[in-house]
Amino acid sequence: MISLSCLALLLVLFLANQCAVSVLVQEKEIDLIEKSCELIDGYEECVTVLGSDPRAKKSTDVKELAYIILDLCIVNATDTLGEIPKLQENYSKNGQIGEALSSCAMEYQRAINDYFGEAIKQLGTSSYQEAQYSAHIGGALGTSCEQEFYFQAPAASPLWSRNHDLAVLGHVAEGIVSLLRSNEI
Ligand SMILES: *[C@@H]1O[C@H](CO)[C@@H](O)[C@H](O)[C@H]1NC(C)=O
Ligand SMILES: *[C@@H]1O[C@H](CO)[C@@H](O)[C@H](O)[C@H]1NC(C)=O
Repeated sequence: MISLSCLALLLVLFLANQCAVSVLVQEKEIDLIEKSCELIDGYEECVTVLGSDPRAKKSTDVKELAYIILDLCIVNATDTLGEIPKLQENYSKNGQIGEALSSCAMEYQRAINDYFGEAIKQLGTSSYQEAQYSAHIGGALGTSCEQEFYFQAPAASPLWSRNHDLAVLGHVAEGIVSLLRSNEI
């Protein structure tokens, strides 16, 4: 038979445990970005990008972070795609740059629809390996666009900083999605 003091002790232990659990959950909420970014390549960029997104700061699970970073990739690439026609007007007299810009427009279109958009769908079906690959290719298309301009080296391409942004965002997205494949976090 369990004595009363023993029951009291059990109750105290139970409450202490609940308390520890709630502290843990709170810490996890606060540090989710930090903890996630620590596990992937490109910690600095990861913290900068996710830390400046209000949704990410409130996020409580890694899958949510994955959706957010993929959304940031799409928004960023869409903004760049919208910039390309203006550049094409500016460079209308330069056939080589015009051609490179046309290729970039196709690459950005594919990054948005075929890769980042696809990665979001793949998250929905928990196809994390496929989603990671899609995010990887999406970011790499920024680098592909940059390569369209190698003929004018050492001058930078008119899309240099935007291509760099996409490569960084894609890299962070790839890393965050990869965390869903493990149980580390
Ligand atoms: C694109 O990404 C870069 C790097 O994260 C950021 O500085 C920039 O503001 C973003 N642009 C848009 C339109 O989202
Ligand atoms: C187009 O060229 C003008 C004049 O050189 C410049 O002020 C403008 O920023 C350029 N626009 C783009 C989108 O590069």
